Amino acid sequence: MSFRTQPLPAARLNRCQLFGPGSRPALFEKMAASAADVINLDLEDSVAPDDKEQARKNIIAAIGDVDWGDKTVSVRINGLDTPFWYRDVVDLLEQAGDRLDQIMIPKAGNASDIYAVDALVTAVEKAKGRSKPIAFEAIIETAAGICHVEEIAAASPRMEAISLGAADFAASMGMATTGIGGTQENYYMHREGAKYWSDPWHWAQAKIVAACRTHGVLPVDGPFGDFSDPEGFRAQALRSATLGMVGKWAIHPSQVALANEVFSPDEKAVTEAREILAAMEEATRTGAGATVYKGRLVDIASIKQAQVIVDQADKIAAKG
Ligand code: COA
Ligand code: MG
Repeated sequence: MSFRTQPLPAARLNRCQLFGPGSRPALFEKMAASAADVINLDLEDSVAPDDKEQARKNIIAAIGDVDWGDKTVSVRINGLDTPFWYRDVVDLLEQAGDRLDQIMIPKAGNASDIYAVDALVTAVEKAKGRSKPIAFEAIIETAAGICHVEEIAAASPRMEAISLGAADFAASMGMATTGIGGTQENYYMHREGAKYWSDPWHWAQAKIVAACRTHGVLPVDGPFGDFSDPEGFRAQALRSATLGMVGKWAIHPSQVALANEVFSPDEKAVTEAREILAAMEEATRTGAGATVYKGRLVDIASIKQAQVIVDQADKIAAKG
């Protein structure tokens, strides 16, 4: 228990983050026309080293030239262990227009990583007189990152979101898998002749959610590599949503509608949430702290749970 109120995350939709390599500018208009809430233009691992410079130029031009509508426009820079990242930041902040909303910092290992990018961003923003502060999203995808996720969430007022990057995370942890997210064949329990698959990403996700919620940051599930397996994607996304994550990456356009569906409360859930709020309003009027809704207990905590659903529905309705 703390006397401090839990801070609210940025009030923006983040159901789906669609990725595209900065070296494939032909995809940019398609990304802008998609139903994703967030666009991640990539300078990092989907771009070959020899293409980094051209990808930077493509992205800087596209930020100004493409109509991104009401999407959050984010660029994933290269990791701090590469020779590319400082030039990514300086060129983006000096040359990209005001439509740039966010920088995504991959392989964040501790708060100092965020501090370093923050210092550089702050200096260029001042030098260039940029009026809109750039937000940050960090990717937790190393053993160090998951150990220090709370200090990463708290590292800067620019921090708006944190994603779990399953592939690099698995590599850094030495996990025996080459799968990117989802069910892992060998992660099961065995009883009376039957296998029961468990979720190896669960603890990392829950740790990220707790750090994010403590510091008012949006927790996001990362990639699901097998884009030919929509049911696998849906199952992973449903588990993430149940744990408190607000959205998921799409690494192929076919995953956008799936993510939007899972992270948008359905009509029944919204109706129930509104009815619970009404029931609790009635209870409060009569001086009761708890009441019964459809045969189950609802109390003051239920107001907060219902409000999360109603707020999300309102944001989606406002987007149209
Ligand atoms: N965003 C928007 N549109 C995309 C897209 C994307 N990321 N990836 C593919 N498309 C388009 C294609 O151009 C094609 O359009 P068309 O029907 O008009 O021709 C259509 O969607 C079907 O594409 P498909 O042929 O199935 O995919 P592909 O072979 O061209 O590309 C990937 C597959 C996985 C290489 C590509 O989707 C990709 O680069 N994804 C993002 C990877 C990334 O950024 N990774 C970093 C984060 S992990
Ligand atoms: Mg990665």
